[in-house]
This record gives sequence, structure tokens and C-alpha cells, in this order.
Amino acid sequence: MPAVRTQFVCQQCGGASPKWAGQCPTCNAWNTLVETAAAPRTASRPGSAARAVAGATAIIPIGAVESAEASRLASGLAEVDRVLGGGFVPGSIALFGGDPGIGKSTLLLQVAALLAGRGLPVLYVTGEESAAQIRGRAERVGAVVDNLHLSATTELETALAAIEAATPALAIVDSVQTLTSAELAGPAGSVGQVREVAARLAEAAKTGGACVALVGHVTKEGTVAGPRTLEHLVDAVIYLEGERLGATRLLRAAKNRYGSTDEVGVLEMRGDGLAEVEDPSRFFLESDEAPSAGAAITIALEGTRPLAVEIQALCAPAGYGSPRRATTGIDVNRVLMLIAVLARHAGLNLTGHDVYVNVAGGLRIDEPAADLAVAVALASSMRERPVKPATAVAGEVALSGRLRAAVRAERRLLEATRLGFERVITGPGRSSGEGQIKGLVVARDVGEALRLALEG
Ligand code: TYD
Ligand code: MG
Repeated sequence: MPAVRTQFVCQQCGGASPKWAGQCPTCNAWNTLVETAAAPRTASRPGSAARAVAGATAIIPIGAVESAEASRLASGLAEVDRVLGGGFVPGSIALFGGDPGIGKSTLLLQVAALLAGRGLPVLYVTGEESAAQIRGRAERVGAVVDNLHLSATTELETALAAIEAATPALAIVDSVQTLTSAELAGPAGSVGQVREVAARLAEAAKTGGACVALVGHVTKEGTVAGPRTLEHLVDAVIYLEGERLGATRLLRAAKNRYGSTDEVGVLEMRGDGLAEVEDPSRFFLESDEAPSAGAAITIALEGTRPLAVEIQALCAPAGYGSPRRATTGIDVNRVLMLIAVLARHAGLNLTGHDVYVNVAGGLRIDEPAADLAVAVALASSMRERPVKPATAVAGEVALSGRLRAAVRAERRLLEATRLGFERVITGPGRSSGEGQIKGLVVARDVGEALRLALEG
């Protein structure tokens, strides 16, 4: 085997240097340089030049190119397929990231069983758990089926050989942090190894035409093995998220070369694996009881799907020093902006109060249409007045205090009506119909919306 040219790559920032040093010259972190194969393997391969020449003649009419849609491999688990954009794409590699213990292995084993059950060969490469452990989980989730094969190894080369031998429709590799290439010196999980594992699996997917699902644990910093080490090597990055103790799991794409990154899948961890949530909207509503002060319900649009979401706020008298502002599931800067707008345009002064804002159910909301729900929840908590019954809100708040209708307000109203809401308060805009549509209540500014939304 020819000696591989190596360089030293920082585990923190990914910066490379030709020589080892105690401190990374790029980001100044200490003891982070690890020996790594220097050039991407494909570039240094003998024969790649010849392939490039051959490639120049491979010109095909666009109409003759097979579309990825046609060959997509739907898993049969609708929430997973939704996030993937319709299913796995043959020849591509998708990274499934998430905290340890969140359910990545469970989810992929279930997907494996569904595909194998339809007669498709599936290979599950496990570097993390023994084959016996996987078998134990498989019994729990009903995945002891024909056509599903296991390979327990921590060597990348063995895993690649297994994939080549089994020619699976789907190869699951669990996990990127436990495989090592014999050609590199770094330990399992180091940036160098993780990159090499992902790059060579991506290559194997392309040449063999399999779909590869690669599992990656998320570190404390919230990324898989150092920031941006893997994202550009894979075709899709799917995160499985959720609160440790809760059963809800959200599946969302952070990157998807073959689909949108807006869709979210909702799953629930049960005793026999992850189950699809039948009515996610109802699922995220905290309870069916009358609303309490400090809570407002909005209809968020996650991708193409409307979801009813409860926004909770707590305004509590602050101690000395600057008051606290903390949020979960929503951008804190957006909340700071809304606090300022409320002070200036709705006579609601929060300077003496600590403010906490929370999106119920572990969801994360990024769209401006959630503004009004945050504003209403804050005012509701501050004035100790609940939102009127059967009322939801959705609209964007401008710095001037004016409101704008949420995009696709009718779609949201429809969902609200389905869930038993009688009105949705929103702002003026083309899609809000200016009061033409029954159930849509249009408020000009945030002050008017608060008067319409709150009791008393
Ligand atoms: P796992 O898939 O091993 O997580 P990951 O691969 O992301 O590390 O899931 C582990 C957790 O899921 C574990 O705490 C037990 C729980 N679980 C269930 O609640 N029900 C089940 O049917 C299974 C298989 C696991
Ligand atoms: Mg696992």
C-alpha cells in the first residue's frame, strides 16, 4: 500500500497545517491537531484522469437523464419520507444526526425493517453496538425480518467491503464516530477519521448506487464532530431532535440536495419504537383546557404543513441588575424586538421584569408570523389576563407596531377551524381578505390585536 500523504487538521476549526504543533495556527486552540490524509482520495486516485477524459464524451440530453424522483426509495414511514423529500435517493448519502440516546438507531432500524419487509436488501453496519444488541432492539421494534443483514465492525474498509458484497438498496452505517480507516493515524471520531469515513461512504454510494444512511452523534456544541466537518460531504443532513425526557421527536433537514429543508416530521418514542404522530397539531397544544394567562396559540407553517403551537411567556419582577430575557424554541433577538415594540406602541413596559418565552412541545419556530403570538403571550402574562377562548393569532409585528397578515392566512385559518378555534387574529394584507373571510379578524396594529385577543 503506498504511504498516504498526511497533514494535521484541527479538531476544532478544521484548519490544516503541514506540521504538528501544540496550538492550532488558525483558531489558536490547544492540542487539537490530528494527523489526517492530505488530499481527497478521489483526486489522487490513479485513473481519475482517464475517467475525466471519458466523462467529457458523456454528454446526454437533459430529457434522457433519469430523474431522482423516479428512483426514490420511500421508506414507508411517512414522517421520514416527508423530511427526505419523498424518500432516500439511490447513490446518495444522508447523515442522521442527533444527541446520543435520542433514537437514531431505533429509527433507522425501523426504516430498515420496512424496506426489507418489501423484499429490498438492507445492510446495517454497526460499529457502536454488537450484533446481539441490534438483534435485541430489532425484537422490540419488530425488525427481525428477512433481507436485513448485519455487519458488526469498526473498520471502514470492512464496512465498505460488506456494502460491496451485499449490494443493498439501503446501507445504514451506525455510527460515523465509531468507524476508523486503517490508512489514517487519528483515533475514531477525530475530524480526520470522520471525514474519511463520510467521504468514502459517499463514494461507495455513488459507485454502487445504494442509499447510505450515516448516523452521527451530535457533540455538546450541537454539531457532528466539529463544526461543518461533514455537512458538505453528504447530500442531506437530517437531525432527530427532542427533549431527553419527553417522547416527542422532531425530524428536520438542515441540508437536502434532493428536497426542501422546511419540512418537519413528528414522531413519538413508544415502547416498540418510534411511531408517527397522527395529529401533530393537536399534539403540540398543551391541553384542551381553557387558556391560562401567559399563553397564546398560533398556527405556524412548518414547510407545507400548518401546526398549532402554544407560545408561553412569563414576566416576573426582576431583581437588581439587568433583567433576564431567556427563550427556548424562538430567537431571543426577535423577542427583544417585540418587547421594545410593546413598550413603545402598546404601553407595556417590561424593563423591570425578567422575561421567559417558550415554545411548547420542543418545537422551534423561525417565522415572523409567530410575532403576534409572542406579543400576546407577553401581554397576557404581564396583565394577568388570558386569551379569549377559541382564539388563535398569527401575524408579523413591524417595528412601527403595525401588523401584517401571516403568509397563507387562509390555510392557517382552515387548520385553526379544524381544531375548534373560532377566530384567528391577524394583520391586514392581501391574503387576510380584510375581514371578508369568516373567522379571520384583522387588527391594524399590535395594540388593537391585544384588545381583541385578551379577556376583560
Ligand atoms: P437509540 O436508538 O439507541 O438512540 P441513539 O441511536 O440515537 O443513541 O434509542 C435509545 C433510547 O430509546 C433508549 O433510551 C431507549 C429508548 N427506546 C424506547 O423508548 N423504545 C424503543 O422501542 C426503543 C428501541 C428504544
Ligand atoms: Mg445508536
